[in-house]
Amino acid sequence: MSDEFGAVVERVRERVTPDPEERDRLRAVTERLTERTAAAVADLPVEADIVLVGSTARGTWLAGDRDVDLFVQFPPDLDRERLEEYGLRIGRAVLPDGREEYAEHPYTVGEFEGFTVDLVPCYDVADATAIQSAVDRTPFHTAYLEDRLDDDLADAVRVCKAFLKGIGVYGSDLKTRGFSGYLTELLVVEYGGFRPLLDAAADWHPPVELDPEAHGETTFETPLVVVDPTDPGRNVAAVCSAANLARFQHYARELLADPREGLFEPDDPAPLDPAAFREAVADRGTTPVAVRFDAPDVVEDQLWPQLRKSLSGVTDELDRRGFDVFRADAFADDHAVVFAELAVTERPRVERHEGPPVHVRDHAEGFCGAYADDDGVYGPFVADDRYVVERERAFSTATEFLDSDALLEVALGAHVETALEDGYEVLVGDETAVLCEEFGPALARYFSPKP
Ligand code: UTP
Ligand code: MN
Repeated sequence: MSDEFGAVVERVRERVTPDPEERDRLRAVTERLTERTAAAVADLPVEADIVLVGSTARGTWLAGDRDVDLFVQFPPDLDRERLEEYGLRIGRAVLPDGREEYAEHPYTVGEFEGFTVDLVPCYDVADATAIQSAVDRTPFHTAYLEDRLDDDLADAVRVCKAFLKGIGVYGSDLKTRGFSGYLTELLVVEYGGFRPLLDAAADWHPPVELDPEAHGETTFETPLVVVDPTDPGRNVAAVCSAANLARFQHYARELLADPREGLFEPDDPAPLDPAAFREAVADRGTTPVAVRFDAPDVVEDQLWPQLRKSLSGVTDELDRRGFDVFRADAFADDHAVVFAELAVTERPRVERHEGPPVHVRDHAEGFCGAYADDDGVYGPFVADDRYVVERERAFSTATEFLDSDALLEVALGAHVETALEDGYEVLVGDETAVLCEEFGPALARYFSPKP
């Protein structure tokens, strides 16, 4: 094979490697940040260590990234309430314009000299199996990788992150459900480079299980399992979805077969305009419907699992009621939207309803009795060995169903349910094109689907 692959990777490597100036600047900024944090810690009645973690500690950040993860490690016997209080107190002192975020416990996010800093309190535990909070593992990740990453592997990590970003699967947040930075680093270290990782991934048959430190037998059930070298009880790839794993395999093959830099650049489609939206729908012969409501005021990691649950709740019920869903998706910005493209939007006024077999005497008599004097139904009659009636359908159009209170009966995320109770709008057919205003790029992607 010609070294087209090597040439592409080399160009990407140059683009994503921070230059000496950027490295110096980051070092100077983290030094001042650490000093300021140490001063805030000195005002507390307990001792605490300050550790830089994440990709900026390991030299694996992408050029231009502006994200610093600084952890403050408190003694393990400090109670949780104090830890939270001290953590936020340090946060206010170091990042006065910062905001509180909440993971397993609160931490502070703010700007410092042009960098976005996550200032996170954690416990200084003996090893990662003794954690009291999920973030207590993080310093062990850094120590583990620092011992194993040399300059070449750090380069490979950056190239791999750029690739995963380019194909849209980088990030362990619950909207993306892809590959975290730590997972990427473990994969590159495990296979000894970017190319060997791609070669392997191109032939994976999920479930794929990697256990770098040979901790042994596990019970994880995700399509990709990477046992945390620092904690046998944790699967580093726990949130990686089957679809994102499959995408990674697809694009690994693609990059090997036809190396090109475009695969390292996220595609950023032009927003779909309403005319193009209507054209696509007319071309497909489907009917779009949408339920639009105010996005619940919760963090994305809470919002997205709820939106996905609501999306399947609504689409399953549409299907069950005879309105066949062709494809569907959820979008969120100021509004949140459950969007479904229907193959069937209208059903006859009546539906078929099967009763028990005639030979099951008790049930059969009950069924017959219940419908015998009902003017609204056709039947009961017998088909094969059963009673059947044709009775009025609760909703003969998808719109009627979506507009009704029955929508609130489907499985919904808790905050989505509250938001819908406060009010929502149903859009049908061409009127759905108004979604282009807020969700133009997402709809462009929807109508030009790619792996
Ligand atoms: P980051 O999300 O900032 O990742 O989490 P990163 O490794 O620094 O990568 P980039 O370059 O910013 O994208 C910081 C650290 O927190 C731990 C990992 O140790 C990670 O390196 N972490 C984060 C997890 O263990 N799991 C997560 O889901 C997220
Ligand atoms: Mn980071």
